[in-house]
Amino acid sequence: MTDSKNIIYINSKKVEVTNVYHDITLLDWLRNYHRITGTKEGCAEGDCGACSVIINKKNKEESKPINACLVRLGQVMGSNITTIEGLGCDKNPHPLQIAFSNEYASQCGYCTPGFIISGVSLINSSKVVNNDTINDAISGNLCRCTGYSPILKAIKSVSDRKT
Ligand code: FES
Ligand code: FES
Repeated sequence: MTDSKNIIYINSKKVEVTNVYHDITLLDWLRNYHRITGTKEGCAEGDCGACSVIINKKNKEESKPINACLVRLGQVMGSNITTIEGLGCDKNPHPLQIAFSNEYASQCGYCTPGFIISGVSLINSSKVVNNDTINDAISGNLCRCTGYSPILKAIKSVSDRKT
């Protein structure tokens, strides 16, 4: 019988955690064990937001973004984790991914999965989406290319698109 303490849901798929040292980071586990590589490693110390994923610990609790590089696997057992792959793909992009394209909010693209995760978390939350809440939501995400203005525009343009 599977021990529920060793289960993590990744993009709605149940994954049993076996033969893994629980002190590994969620980021390393996603990328190295499961090849879920849309979640990026930038700084690996909680400063850049490239590794952002959405966590939901209990189904009724509001989901929130976390830095996967700061979280150990043992801390997220039993949780639902959504990565960028769970939000959209080439054939079926998330509305915010389309908005990023339309507003030129992605240039080198390295930061983009993290911004999409933070933006979607805000849009799906109970908060009003305005300049202040967008600035708060993306305050942990760094972008070296865009100057941020197109990112703000993109998030605002789909502020009513809860998914
Ligand atoms: S890689 Fe996690 S915050 Fe930079
Ligand atoms: S688009 Fe290059 S770092 Fe953001």
